[in-house]
Amino acid sequence: MLSIASLLHVVFSVIWVGGMFFAWMILRPVAAGTLEAPERLMLWRRVFAKFFVWIWKAVVLVPLTGYWMGFTMYSQMAHWPTHVHVMHGLAWIMVVIFLAVFFLPFRTLRAAVDTQDWETGARSLGQIRQLVGLNLILGLIVVIVASGGRFGLLG
Ligand code: HEM
Repeated sequence: MLSIASLLHVVFSVIWVGGMFFAWMILRPVAAGTLEAPERLMLWRRVFAKFFVWIWKAVVLVPLTGYWMGFTMYSQMAHWPTHVHVMHGLAWIMVVIFLAVFFLPFRTLRAAVDTQDWETGARSLGQIRQLVGLNLILGLIVVIVASGGRFGLLG
């Protein structure tokens, strides 16, 4: 069971963080450099609609498998090593940021694109860009802490 929990944990972390990396570092500058506002906003509306289906799976599976591993490997929370505490704390900030994006600017972006209100759409896209950028940084820190922590990165 531990091996299944671990592989689900890491695979869905990779999908979440890797997806944000691709969106922010690759697709964002290319779309900004090649598409006019309406096409760009329509593209992002559809990209996020598909991507967020996977993030919802990650948001459920990563913490579930994380707690499973934490309690199985180290028993009660007080015995968890520092890298797991850091991962745990940052993970919940990431979840809250994702929920904020999904229920606030993404909802506005969807409505704006569907009614061709490009100005509101561009504003929402800007907010999503900032929040996803922040979550990408947190996600990369979590991956560094998680993978290095086991081997003493945090002392
Ligand atoms: C409630 C949230 C979370 C909990 C309780 C949790 C817990 C754990 C535990 C107990 C391990 C095994 C640690 C060890 O081998 O010493 C682990 C590994 C790992 N976690 Fe998390 N985690 C959480 C969220 C996340 C998130 C959000 C990410 C990535 C964005 C992540 C990425 C990883 C990675 C990459 C490993 C593999 C480390 C390795 O095997 O070298 N975790 N996690």
